[in-house]
Amino acid sequence: MLAFFPIKGFLGTGATFEADLNLVVQVIMGAALIAGSLLAKRKRYTAHGICQTTVLLLNLVMIGLVMWPSFQQQVRPALPKVFHKWYYAAAIIHALLGVTAELLGLYIVIVAGTNMLPQRLRFKNWKRWMRTELMLWSIVVLTGVGTYYAWYIAPFR
Ligand code: HEM
Repeated sequence: MLAFFPIKGFLGTGATFEADLNLVVQVIMGAALIAGSLLAKRKRYTAHGICQTTVLLLNLVMIGLVMWPSFQQQVRPALPKVFHKWYYAAAIIHALLGVTAELLGLYIVIVAGTNMLPQRLRFKNWKRWMRTELMLWSIVVLTGVGTYYAWYIAPFR
């Protein structure tokens, strides 16, 4: 897909290099978000904010570099008639949840880290919003791993 990436992946599943890279980066970022939430529990809010915002922005790079192009290339041309096939359904469910998680994360970062939004658009119950986001993100990582399984492992079993 991208000229500067090698073609073959490195996890031995037959996946592309960018799919393997994305899988590894996403698992590390998921762990970083959990570590970041522990920072908040210890009241280290600045470190918590830096950690979660970094993951959110790095994920924008992974979406733009790997997942969005892959969705456009592999899934979009087959829409809407292929929802019954797991290859597509897994990616579509994952992409819808992924877009929601990324947008919700951006909203949380804007409210928590800036004064850009007027009072009526800002939430007050920070804990509830951030817990919801972490839960949603975890589901997105799992559906992403499910997509990897449906694309690169299940067809060869
Ligand atoms: C919070 C946001 C997201 C997380 C945590 C996440 C996580 C993951 C993970 C762990 C994988 C498996 C590795 C792989 O196969 O590349 C994956 C794959 C994928 N994701 Fe996401 N994702 C997110 C957002 C999105 C969005 C917004 C889209 C929609 C465009 C999307 C579309 C895809 C596609 C098409 C794949 C398969 C890519 C391929 O193997 O070529 N993801 N994602």
